[in-house]
Amino acid sequence: MNLETMILTSLHALAAVIWVGGIFFAYRILRPSALSLEPRDRLVLWEKVFRRFFGWVWFFILVLVVSGYWDWITRLGSFEQAPLYLQLMEWIGWLMVVLFIWLFFWPFAKFKIRMAQYEFTEAGHIMNAQMRPIIAINLMLGVIEVVIGASGPFWPVITF
Ligand code: HEM
Repeated sequence: MNLETMILTSLHALAAVIWVGGIFFAYRILRPSALSLEPRDRLVLWEKVFRRFFGWVWFFILVLVVSGYWDWITRLGSFEQAPLYLQLMEWIGWLMVVLFIWLFFWPFAKFKIRMAQYEFTEAGHIMNAQMRPIIAINLMLGVIEVVIGASGPFWPVITF
């Protein structure tokens, strides 16, 4: 039994499941359900949802990156000649992080400014045209990451 590995893989899996599950809930459940609200109420709701959820996402990213590299270095060996699934995990993971940073510091920042100025039409446009596509891409990448994480150790060994 290796307690360190048990803790690291559990933290990694938990952060991944809650991050990806949270996006799934927002995108597939809350978005269609909130369409019945008045546009203004809907945007107010989304601002509260994003503010809370994005705070957690920073934490999940920290946990995923630290636990992922820690586990890799201590258990799975060197970065050179790493199996394909780990390289994919790393690159897709960083892509998700970069997309989130972009989302947070660009469209979401503009969305908050528009909301503070009660410019709801513009805020709605930013949410639909700029935030939603990034969230949809990260949902897709997150699902792929979970599949790679769960099945990767059972792939045929391919290294580059
Ligand atoms: C760039 C940072 C990342 C690194 C370095 C990394 C590294 C790792 C490593 C070393 C493993 C263990 C593989 C094995 O047991 O053979 C793993 C598993 C896994 N990863 Fe990642 N990962 C990263 C990002 C992510 C992201 C962003 C997600 C999903 C949102 C994710 C989801 C998973 C899942 C579900 C597993 C399987 C469960 C587990 O072992 O904890 N990873 N990852």
